[in-house]
Amino acid sequence: MKKTLVVYYSWSNGNTKKIAEQLTAALGADLERLEPQTPYSGSYNDVVDQGQREVEEGYLPPLKPLTHNPADYDLIAAGTPTWWYTMAPCMRSFLQSQDWTGRTVVPFMTNGGWPGHVIADMSSLCKAGKVILPLEVQFDSNGGAKQITPQNEVDAWVRAVCQEAGK
Ligand SMILES: Cc1cc2nc3c(=O)[nH]c(=O)nc-3n(C[C@H](O)[C@H](O)[C@H](O)COP(=O)(O)O)c2cc1C
Repeated sequence: MKKTLVVYYSWSNGNTKKIAEQLTAALGADLERLEPQTPYSGSYNDVVDQGQREVEEGYLPPLKPLTHNPADYDLIAAGTPTWWYTMAPCMRSFLQSQDWTGRTVVPFMTNGGWPGHVIADMSSLCKAGKVILPLEVQFDSNGGAKQITPQNEVDAWVRAVCQEAGK
């Protein structure tokens, strides 16, 4: 069985956290939640605006120290909400900070109906590794927690990742 780590960032409602936890439970994997050293504050719209500035500037927020070393794992599933058509800046900080050579990466993301180019952007940051089984999960368009993508699609992906991990 491959040694597997699930890494995620989640801010709004725990949408990405929910998917990350489903995958972690099925895999029996280790779980790492990314947190910026400076937490986002203010209203939802304040963070939407700050997120836009950060995405436009390619800002890489410093992260709190990780509790697992990604270099110890063969397979890493990385999940992020969509922020301005790409990954959240914290996920960009994480992916840019790692050497993906020899690792298998499973990118997954949540969105509110405008998925943009999240998976392509994540894949290009991990191109030294092998990127497989990307998943996009849509939640409601108001930034809420109602899942639009049928759960059986998520379940099928979880099974496929488990198979890949030899679980
Ligand atoms: C700063 C910010 C930017 C967002 N940009 C997009 C976007 O470009 N496209 C989209 O479909 N949803 C966008 N959303 C909605 C989130 O991607 C969606 O609600 C996601 O499921 C939230 O996941 P979380 O609860 O794990 O944080 C944005 C939300 C925030 C806070």
